[in-house]
Amino acid sequence: MASKLKHILKSQQFSREWLEEEFFPLSSEMKKAVLAGQTLDDLKDKTVCLLFYEPSTRTRVSFQQAALKLGALAVATENAKEFSSAVKGETMKDTTRIINAYHFDAIVIRSDYEGAAEEAASVSEAPIINAGDGAGQHPTQSLLDIFTIHEHFGKVDGLRVAFVGDLKYGRTVRSLSYLLGKFKDIKVHLVAPESLQMREDILEYYKENGIEFEAHSDIAEIVDKVDVIYMTRAQKERMNEGEDADGAGVVLNRELLDKVSEKSIIMHPLPRSSDINEIPEELTDDPRMMIFKEAENGLFTRMALLKMVIQ
Ligand code: CP
Repeated sequence: MASKLKHILKSQQFSREWLEEEFFPLSSEMKKAVLAGQTLDDLKDKTVCLLFYEPSTRTRVSFQQAALKLGALAVATENAKEFSSAVKGETMKDTTRIINAYHFDAIVIRSDYEGAAEEAASVSEAPIINAGDGAGQHPTQSLLDIFTIHEHFGKVDGLRVAFVGDLKYGRTVRSLSYLLGKFKDIKVHLVAPESLQMREDILEYYKENGIEFEAHSDIAEIVDKVDVIYMTRAQKERMNEGEDADGAGVVLNRELLDKVSEKSIIMHPLPRSSDINEIPEELTDDPRMMIFKEAENGLFTRMALLKMVIQ
């Protein structure tokens, strides 16, 4: 049985050993069970509360489905920013105390500000799962991403990864960076307009953890040099006035895709934006495109995570 996790707050908390010996195997086990149509009751009689202060399709629905697939019940506040007592000025700490008072077995929180999940965890007996905190982190997305990478290549060591788009506000690239730092001989290419490049704290982390990195403004410079092209959406909702949302929308078109190795993969946490169109619809069925596989793996990995925090 996998060891118990208290909270899931940030990607730095995980070790390589945990990823390889516990998380990957349990996620694969969940995948096998779901694909075989097995009914699981590992979390029978358990309850999960989802508090989402920001819009979400994948994270919210996959956590709900993960709970149901394990026999647990999920209660969701889909638009907590408008329909919870946050409107009346209630703090994250008090909201968490209330959810604890109702004896939930886990609380999944998506918030619009950095540090919200840690704030909740500071007063919570029930495990807190960070489902995205503003421009901070999205650890469960990075876990499904690293699972997808490991599943595809059979390894993570030695891979060359390009992060493309809005790297300043994109929380998924921040969380995935922390996980890549657990592995050896990683090279990261950072493709973004200068104003939306990766923040200094992550660059420091790369240096401290032996990740070689290089910044670029043109995606054409790296498409034939990497194993993973991780595209991202321009996080317009987080940008300050004067920041160039359209400039952040680096696009992967057919001409560029033709230069990508047959062995490489394209990832994107989704949603992809329909205005900037960073991965155009006509490229969706390319065999290198992992974007919907990532989303599907979100179900299996979140089942594994719910088991690890609740059981
Ligand atoms: N990737 C991701 O977090 O998607 P949602 O915002 O739809 O949950």
